[in-house]
Amino acid sequence: MKKRIVLVTGASGYLGGRLCHQLFNGGHHVKAFVRRTSDLSSLPPPTDGGSSGGTLELVFGDVTDYQSLLLACSGCHDIFHSAALVEPWLPDPSRFSSVNVGGLKNVLQAYKETGTIEKIVYTSSFFALGSTDGYVADETQTHSGKVFCTEYEKSKVVADKVALDAASEGMPIVPVYPGVIYGPGKVTAGNIVARMIIERFNGRLPGYIGQANDRFSFSHVDDVVDGHIAAMDKGKPGERYLLTGENASFKEVFDIAAMITRTKKPLFGIPLLIIEAYGWISVLFSKLTGKLPLISPPICYSGVDSGAFAFGSMCDTLLS
Ligand SMILES: NC(=O)c1ccc[n+]([C@@H]2O[C@H](COP(=O)([O-])OP(=O)(O)OC[C@H]3O[C@@H](n4cnc5c(N)ncnc54)[C@H](OP(=O)(O)O)[C@@H]3O)[C@@H](O)[C@H]2O)c1
Repeated sequence: MKKRIVLVTGASGYLGGRLCHQLFNGGHHVKAFVRRTSDLSSLPPPTDGGSSGGTLELVFGDVTDYQSLLLACSGCHDIFHSAALVEPWLPDPSRFSSVNVGGLKNVLQAYKETGTIEKIVYTSSFFALGSTDGYVADETQTHSGKVFCTEYEKSKVVADKVALDAASEGMPIVPVYPGVIYGPGKVTAGNIVARMIIERFNGRLPGYIGQANDRFSFSHVDDVVDGHIAAMDKGKPGERYLLTGENASFKEVFDIAAMITRTKKPLFGIPLLIIEAYGWISVLFSKLTGKLPLISPPICYSGVDSGAFAFGSMCDTLLS
């Protein structure tokens, strides 16, 4: 990728932060779109040139505030749109739509008005492709659009359609589909693997969660970052690119964590009924304290439901 002026939304997030580092190290001018309230600890310090020649500028706004986004887009060549509300539950469910769908629509509108933007890479999700019921799916997989485990899932499905419709109207948008992201980085609502492991080792999650045959595609965060950059370099607008990895269950994740830390594996699986009850209690607790839950009913942990989301590995056309 040649030196570019690049806007990254969701820059303060788990994925966005690592993406900003990579773009910065690649010598680009990174405009990190953050909120006034965002924790900026995972971003490179704003600077006028590191050893790589990269620069980072903070631009403040909110994806639901069109004017702030338009201002941030000014002079940019490329946009990585990664901002989203990645939560299992929110007291006001309409926020999923306003941020995850409305935010994308605002990015597309800003693209039209700005006139300098050549490409948009949109971070979709394996959730937008739907459950694969056990088989290993590819880019042709589509969501049934009938059952949504969470409002988050629904918003990612709707946003995916917005992105594909925009591409068919000629806009240069490339949607990418990470699996469950894991690996080093900030512990945020989106970093579900780290949060689960923290719960496990703090004794708050005594057993396995999910069924052994519920498999998810797990993607290392740095591979997901590389996939985003490759999509910017080589991705064809409107073409879907899976940024997926190994298909495994959360049971295997806990077993690997036990092996690495030389601790005991969980001795039992937590029955779904108990997880469901825990989800309801968490939501009730959240209403009282304002602290958002890790698990929400119906049996969804950060949007991950008890289904199978198995995908073929990361798209070869991007990585070759
Ligand atoms: N994590 C995964 O396993 C996974 C899997 C597949 C796809 N994805 C997708 O990857 C993207 C990044 O996820 P993540 O895991 O990095 O999530 P994350 O750590 O929770 O980060 C979300 C980012 O979005 C920002 N954001 C939220 N609402 C915003 C608003 N109204 N205006 C501007 N910024 C806003 C947050 O800002 P604050 O810091 O201010 O809150 C944060 O920077 C999302 O689009 C998600 O759907 C994630």
